[in-house]
Amino acid sequence: MNALTRYRPWVMEELRRVAELDGLLGVLVRYPLGLAEADGSPGPGIGGKLLRPCLVLFACEALGGEIKRALPLAAALELVHNFSLVHDDIQDGDEFRRGRPTAWKRFGVGQAINAGDALLVLALQVALAADLPHPARLRAQEALLSTTLRMIEGQALDLAGEGKALGVEEYLAMARKKTGALLGCALALGALSAGRPDLQTLSQELGEELGLAFQIKDDLLGIWGDPEKTGKPGGSDLLRNKRTFPVCFALERDPELSSLLSAPKEHLDSILRRLEEVGARKGAEEEMRKHLSKAERLAGELPWASWARAAFQELITFLAAREA
Ligand code: IPE
Ligand code: IPE
Ligand code: MG
Ligand code: MG
Repeated sequence: MNALTRYRPWVMEELRRVAELDGLLGVLVRYPLGLAEADGSPGPGIGGKLLRPCLVLFACEALGGEIKRALPLAAALELVHNFSLVHDDIQDGDEFRRGRPTAWKRFGVGQAINAGDALLVLALQVALAADLPHPARLRAQEALLSTTLRMIEGQALDLAGEGKALGVEEYLAMARKKTGALLGCALALGALSAGRPDLQTLSQELGEELGLAFQIKDDLLGIWGDPEKTGKPGGSDLLRNKRTFPVCFALERDPELSSLLSAPKEHLDSILRRLEEVGARKGAEEEMRKHLSKAERLAGELPWASWARAAFQELITFLAAREA
């Protein structure tokens, strides 16, 4: 997939190990990860891109650290991410993720809440076991917790924004929290694992820019992407009148669009036409590139090994072009 692909086997093995719980709870936890079907039989395998945990390992190695030190924190971050997705699909009413029915669709909303909660607690347990010297371990655990709280705040703002006249700036503040926080944390955990607490803040900032670009791309794919490739339902953000970047961009230029958006099912074609007319697609692509460039600039300030600079460039190209 990209320069980070080589970290996937470590992360997959660690996730498998952590998710080996007995009974019903084990199934609830392994299903969204892709490790089990609802009847407990083996699943298709880990379904996500593993971007966040691979970034943790990359950021650690790029600063001369050892993968095995960062691995528990990488797995913890991926588990927090999966917790957020299980609850996000309930909140967004989405029925497909990673090409499979979402947890709430499979088990009901109540059990999906339990699945998400368990994923979060497993994340915290793995993070407790991180083999880092004091005080780096405490600092990493603190980063994971505060980031998770910021992500949840972002999710609250996302839901509060549905159907509202949200401007581009407010959208960016929300996306920085719901998505930027975890990607920022990935880079920060990598720096802490490599014994470079002095680079934690810069790493967090860099990851947040990546996260903003990532979310804007996710918004683009949600409208113009191919559901076969994304594994997620097409048009569902529009159908729920969610505030994605293209919609916020368009509403600032065409306020009358909001009446069409309030009855999206009947007006889907006109909405899509008007988004194109005001340049919302191009505007979103430009904004995405702006944040990728900012990330590149910040990366230039980190004392990374030269192989890491090349790998990061490859990652930027992948993030801009990704279709899933
Ligand atoms: C989806 O994240 C949620 C967003 C923050 C946009 P990913 O696109 O990283 O999801 P997976 O883990 O690869 O499925
Ligand atoms: C992404 O939410 C952020 C989190 C899940 C924390 P979205 O709702 O935009 O992401 P998708 O499109 O469902 O993956
Ligand atoms: Mg969603
Ligand atoms: Mg959401």
